[in-house]
Amino acid sequence: MMVELVPDDVVTPLEPAPKLADAVGFPVFLKREDLYTGFGGGSKGRKTAALAASLRIPPEVVISVGSMHSNHLRSCSTWAHEAGAHLDVVVHPTAGSVPDARHLRDALGAREVLVREPAKIREGLNSLVTQALARGERPLVVQGGGHHLPGTAAYREVALRLERQCADQGVRAGVVVAPSGTGGTQAGLLVGVSQWTSPASVVGVSVGRRRENALPPIIEAASWLGHIPDQRSLHFVDDYLGPGYGFIERTLAAACRWAGDLTGLRIDPVYTGRVFEALYRAHPLLTPHPGQACIVVVTG
Ligand SMILES: Cc1ncc(COP(=O)(O)O)c(C=O)c1O
Repeated sequence: MMVELVPDDVVTPLEPAPKLADAVGFPVFLKREDLYTGFGGGSKGRKTAALAASLRIPPEVVISVGSMHSNHLRSCSTWAHEAGAHLDVVVHPTAGSVPDARHLRDALGAREVLVREPAKIREGLNSLVTQALARGERPLVVQGGGHHLPGTAAYREVALRLERQCADQGVRAGVVVAPSGTGGTQAGLLVGVSQWTSPASVVGVSVGRRRENALPPIIEAASWLGHIPDQRSLHFVDDYLGPGYGFIERTLAAACRWAGDLTGLRIDPVYTGRVFEALYRAHPLLTPHPGQACIVVVTG
């Protein structure tokens, strides 16, 4: 695939969170990527917009994979709908619950939904491609979570513009923290922030993976942008995962309420809620040096 990088001009607000700052004892700012509205909104919307903009010829069938909580699949669904394409997806069970394919087809506006255990995802995707080709259609397989070069480049761009936003608002960013799933958002932020005049540390808070599984795709995505991260720049929090992706345990729920009450936001517990849990538990990686701020990327 020929990839042309088309920068996205949408700059979302950077907002102070004074009550949260009082509670944690250092300045906190919210980078409101949840206010990005294209392609289903939030970080996955931005990644999908970047992918769509990079293509010369739009697909006739969008094929992808995710959980039933996947914002990425919602975003692909919006794209397919706008492009007049079909959406065929593989959905994997989450948190012990096996979704009903018929219901998901309706919920996602999909033509085809295959429910597959993780070990069978590849086979499911292949069969969707084979079916599309047999119908004479032009399919595009989008990697789960929007883990692709244009999406990662979009977050490098966000980070580059964030430096300007911080300068304009007199914010000295010491930490930039975001939820990390497939790792493309973290990788893009890492590459962009590494180009700042005074780089902050970029921290990913895991939404489901353990560090050993999470770091290789982050490194891979950074390498798409020609950046090989130093091991010391890879900050990853997987301390509070509990049983893993999609499980909402007591402290996570309490952290969402705490952060919601202090910021006025409704916090999504599957993704950004993980970051607020790390703040709630005072994780040291999220604590900036004195005089510096922590920037929470609210991804959706
Ligand atoms: C709202 C939201 N934030 C963050 C993430 C993680 O982003 P990434 O897959 O780029 O690590 C996801 C998806 O996993 C998401 O839906």
